[in-house]
Formats: sequence, structure tokens, C-alpha cells
Amino acid sequence: MPHVQDNHPPFIIEPVKSLRGELRFMGDKSISHRALIFSSLAEGVSHIFNLSHGGDVTSTMEILSRTGCRIIDAGDHIEVHGCGTGGMQKPDKELFCGNSGTTARLLSGVLANQKFESVVTGDESLSRRPMLRVIEPLRLMGAEIDSDNGLMPLRFKPSAGMKGITYEMPTPSAQVKGAIILSALHLKEETVIIEKSLTRDHTERMLGLPVKFEEGKKIISVSHRFAPFRKDYEIPGDISSAAFFVVAGLIFPDSEIVIRDVMLNEGRTAYLNILARMGGNIRIEKTRMMGREPVGDVIVKSSRLRNVPIDKEIIPMIIDEIPALTVAGVFASGVFEIRGAHELRVKESDRISSLIYNLLKAGVNPAEFEDGFRFEAEKLNQSPSFMSFGDHRVAMAFTVLSALIPSGGTMDDTDCISVSNPDFFRQLKSISQF
Ligand code: S3P
Repeated sequence: MPHVQDNHPPFIIEPVKSLRGELRFMGDKSISHRALIFSSLAEGVSHIFNLSHGGDVTSTMEILSRTGCRIIDAGDHIEVHGCGTGGMQKPDKELFCGNSGTTARLLSGVLANQKFESVVTGDESLSRRPMLRVIEPLRLMGAEIDSDNGLMPLRFKPSAGMKGITYEMPTPSAQVKGAIILSALHLKEETVIIEKSLTRDHTERMLGLPVKFEEGKKIISVSHRFAPFRKDYEIPGDISSAAFFVVAGLIFPDSEIVIRDVMLNEGRTAYLNILARMGGNIRIEKTRMMGREPVGDVIVKSSRLRNVPIDKEIIPMIIDEIPALTVAGVFASGVFEIRGAHELRVKESDRISSLIYNLLKAGVNPAEFEDGFRFEAEKLNQSPSFMSFGDHRVAMAFTVLSALIPSGGTMDDTDCISVSNPDFFRQLKSISQF
């Protein structure tokens, strides 16, 4: 049984024979952050259903409460009394983002436009992650931001005057794009963002921003005319939390998992296409729209997988799912290779190093590159002891792998999983057959 014993650390992950059953996921993390922020920037009361209750989204909620928005748990939903774009209040202390890069970067776009000074901090992992990518475009807009050499803490001072910009994104990042858009919502002048490489589109989609494509580039226009107004949000299930179960359903023998009402935005489903190309038996049913996002049921069955080439261009669209795909790669025939993924080095951990460390523990011998890794798995070690490196997605990926090893495995720490999916172990247990 994939269960966590009380005598931790380390956590013991026991072997599972097969996985069968139905799962539902709390609201998608990316959409949950945005629904909270947009509701807070609107005037009036918004209602949010199926908001993620993971640690990252809770960090966003706490910061918005600290800056004057009233956020109430109304039982079956969350009620947000927004302040309007200009109505936030000076917080009484530093704003702590925990482990959440999305909180830090998206809210930078909001705090840069306020009339008060604020300081944003994060945990040890977030304090190592690059913030210049968000500071630079906001400074071009006129923001006054101090940092510790491009790292946290970030200090936002009232600006002498913010203005619209035209900005071609040097690094593909939905968080940075979101920060620029959120800043531009405060301004009369138009801001234009140009993306050479596509990233998840929730910010522009949820705000209904005009978007066009020219010479292979995406061009997004935004100004105060698109400032959000109060509304109700129903958030579809988190497709990235589902990834670990999709992979598990494919690699465990005699398994079938039905995942209900999960978001199917095509900027987030690229990993499903890769798994299908690998020979994965994946069926999508009951597709429909939930707000502005497509949703549906995903049904996965045990499959014989073979590794396929993964295009560098698709990396920004699968960046969060690479740990789960890596586990699929271990149980597939042929060579698994990820290249063009330097961004993995600056996620919640240096994910290239974290994945390689754990692959070696599993008995797989990967080749490491600056921008990725390659391996062909053969016989796995028994009773491996894995490390999460405080990274939720590394912990979930190697928990799934451990449960498929006949002797099981251990993980040094699984607390980090709660930043995105506090339900992970309960869900895994609920579908486990012994
Ligand atoms: C996110 C964007 C992605 C992703 C992160 C969530 C978002 O990061 O890795 O988990 O909600 O905007 P990038 O900013 O690198 O695209």
C-alpha cells in the first residue's frame, strides 16, 4: 500500500499491484492563483468554486488578505471582496510567498503599481529562484523595485509614473507574462507583449485579452480597459496534479483510472499527447467548456510504452510534467531524452540534478546535460531511497516509481507535496490494489 508510516523520516512507500478507480482534483493551481488575483482587483464580490487548497495558492490568498481584500471561506466556495486596481492597502509586514514562484511573480505586477511600499519574501527554495526576469520588464514600465542581486527579498516602492511598453519575452514564462499583464491592467496606455515561444495562456484567456499571431509570434495587447470585474469562477481540476496519476495508470499492470472534470487547455495537455505517442492508452471523453477553459474526463489504461523524441519547442508546455514523464520514460523501452530544458534548473529545485540523483538511486544511469538528460532504463534497484529536495513534483514522481518496485522504496520527505496537491497520498491510496 502506498502509505506513509508514522515513524518518518524517511517515508516508506509500499508496493502496489495495480491501480483502479476514479479521481477528481481540486482546482488547477495556475487558474486558482489568477482567479484570486483577478477577484481582488475587481470591485465587488466574486465567488470562486473548487479553488486549490494547496500551499502555493494559500500563499497568494494570504497576501491578498494582507493587502486589504476580504477573502471569506463560504463553505462550498470562497468569497472575495475585491479592492479594485487602485484600492489595496499597505500591509503591516513583509509578504511571504512560501514556496510559490507564481505568487511572487504574478503579484509583482500588482505591487509595482501600488501607492505604498511592500516587501516580498519566500522560503529557501524561492529565495534562490531568479526574479530579474520579472523585475526587468516592470522597471521598463517605470516600477521601482530593489532586490538582492536579482533574488528575493523584493522591495516595491511607489513609482513616479508607470507607462505601457512593447516587450518581446526573452525567456518563455507564463508567470512573467502574467506579471506584465497584471501591471498593464493599472495603466491607460496600451502594453503589447510578444511571445516567440508559447507558454500557458490562462492570464490572457481569463481576462479576454485581444491576441493575434504574426510571423509565428503571439502578440497580446492589454490596458486598463481589460481590468477584471466581479464574477463567479468555477475552477476545473488540476491537469498537472493529474499527470502523476495518468503516468501511474499507464505503467502499473492491469490498471484503469478515470479522471473526472480535469482542465484540458491545450497549453497544458502536451504531456498527454507525448504519452499517447509513446503508445499510452488514453481516452478523453465528455469534453465541454467550464468558463473559458475546456474540461473533460481522461481515462487511462495499462500500456506498453516506448520512448519517443520530445521536441525542444514543446518544453515550455510540459515544463511541470517532466518529472512525471521521466517516470514514464523509465518504464518505456528505448531512449528517453529531454533537451532544451534549462529552465528545469531554476524550478522548486534544480530539477535536472534532482531527477538524475533519483534515477541513479533507482538503478538508471542517465547522461546529464546543462539543458537536460538522457537514459535508457534496464533493471531497477530494489528498495531505493529517494530524495525530494523539497520539490513537490520530484517527491510525487518518485513515490509513483517506488510503488511499482516490488520491494517499494523510501522518500526522505513528502511534506513538500502539499504545495500543489495535499490530497496526493489519499488519492493514491484510494485507487491502490494489493
Ligand atoms: C505557471 C507557469 C509555469 C509553471 C508554474 C506555473 C503559471 O512557469 O512552471 O508551475 O501559473 O503561470 P513559467 O513562468 O516558467 O512559465
